[in-house]
Amino acid sequence: MKRRQFLQFGAAGLGAAICPLGVSSGNGLSWQQSFNQSLGTRSDLLGFRGIQEEELKDDDVHVEGKIPGELNGVLYRNGPARHEIGDFRYRHWFDGDGMIQSFRLQNGKVDHHGRMIQTRKYQEEKAAGRALYPGFGSHPPDAQNVTSADELSTANISVLVHHGELLALWEAGSAHVIDERSLETKGLKHWSGESRGLPFSAHPRVEPDGTLWNFGYASSFGALILWHISANGRLLRNGVIPLEHMGMPHDFIVTSKHIVIMLPPFHFEPESGDNFLDAHHWKPERPTQLLIVDKNNFENYQYAELPAQWVFHFGNGWEDRDGMIHFDAPRATDPGTMTHFFRNIMEGRMDISPTDSIHHGYRINTKTGKVEEEALVADTLITGFPVIDHRISTRQYRQVICLGSKRTSTSASVLFDSVVKLNVESGNYDIYTYPDHLIPEEHLFVPAPGSNPEAEGWIIGTSLDYVAKQTKLSVFHANALMNGPIAVATLPYAIPFGLHGKFHQHCV
Ligand SMILES: [Fe+2]
Repeated sequence: MKRRQFLQFGAAGLGAAICPLGVSSGNGLSWQQSFNQSLGTRSDLLGFRGIQEEELKDDDVHVEGKIPGELNGVLYRNGPARHEIGDFRYRHWFDGDGMIQSFRLQNGKVDHHGRMIQTRKYQEEKAAGRALYPGFGSHPPDAQNVTSADELSTANISVLVHHGELLALWEAGSAHVIDERSLETKGLKHWSGESRGLPFSAHPRVEPDGTLWNFGYASSFGALILWHISANGRLLRNGVIPLEHMGMPHDFIVTSKHIVIMLPPFHFEPESGDNFLDAHHWKPERPTQLLIVDKNNFENYQYAELPAQWVFHFGNGWEDRDGMIHFDAPRATDPGTMTHFFRNIMEGRMDISPTDSIHHGYRINTKTGKVEEEALVADTLITGFPVIDHRISTRQYRQVICLGSKRTSTSASVLFDSVVKLNVESGNYDIYTYPDHLIPEEHLFVPAPGSNPEAEGWIIGTSLDYVAKQTKLSVFHANALMNGPIAVATLPYAIPFGLHGKFHQHCV
């Protein structure tokens, strides 16, 4: 497989748009007008409005309560932040240009800095004053042709600190290197000359010793890329697995012996849609496949099958002595949250709710290929954005932190309203529900220094107060989640909804 061939991914993958979407929405208003009209009556849409500022900064964030003195470090977050340029509003939440955030916690004090990631696309469009490039679910008028996915990168999904380097992660192309202190964009991350431009997904799995595994998908070329990187940041291996249908995998599982990638029946038919997303088609009559790859030999792999289902994110995975792989995930019946909800909401339409996802546990018998799945909680609890104590990544685990909502929720927003600490062995969970005007984003587990895995620590995460138009950072005792936050830092501004973050404990 030649590197040059992968470059076609950008042009034929994300750039596969055939014709531009109309500037007006169905009601005769532009998408900007339609969104702003809805925002006038639905203030909970605030997180999807987007911003035009290059930077956000508060050097001394107001804190109520007490941030523990041992909780020192930086919470880095990433997410789509600029949703409009000129008179064009993106047609999908995932198309927004990325802004990296740092919440620096030191001796009980908090400072915040947000900075737009200077991708090539962002810089060129800013200079032009208009949208120039096709995106994941958008195609602006007169969009330019592209020759590589990196030309389209919005760098807007996640972050990673690995071997002392802060990376802003996207999905279809290279990561961007970010300066940890200034948040300045330093350029694209190239792990090697041969791997330049290969897709590097936003959810790499890092083993406790620092070994990094990742995948990337090149849909139009029918190839799945695997990455094996040492703890000191050296590319050890790339693998290529030919696949007819990728299904847009977003996250994956790594165990002590295997890599597991879920391939849902979301088929890419390049000429069939106006944009990359719409060129994918849900085939619920077909199975969701599990691709199980030997970590030591990427050419040694097998498949297993599940009923059609859609998973954005996995909690963790591990493998027992008998070769049984265990993992967990919020399981949805279809990708409707992505295909409909996150598109409609950019127009200010709330007529379609997210697809419910129920937390499931899975077991794969690697000797027989048999897979079992079962709901870990009653279907009265919806979950998403699972995270773990990073110190037991790829190892046996018990605890997952995730966002949640109960079906009985009376929240005005259809988004998650709670934080959940779930025991994946017993199905028991603790839950804290935010007040109605606060919408939580991904929360992380931060271990107390010197503690045992999954024992003492804190749960921290941001939320948007859409009434006060302020973003907050809350800190909970991990073992007393239900008591509510022990400290809340409140910014004087609202940050657009982001996606993922990481807490870096030794950089203050
Ligand atoms: Fe994600």
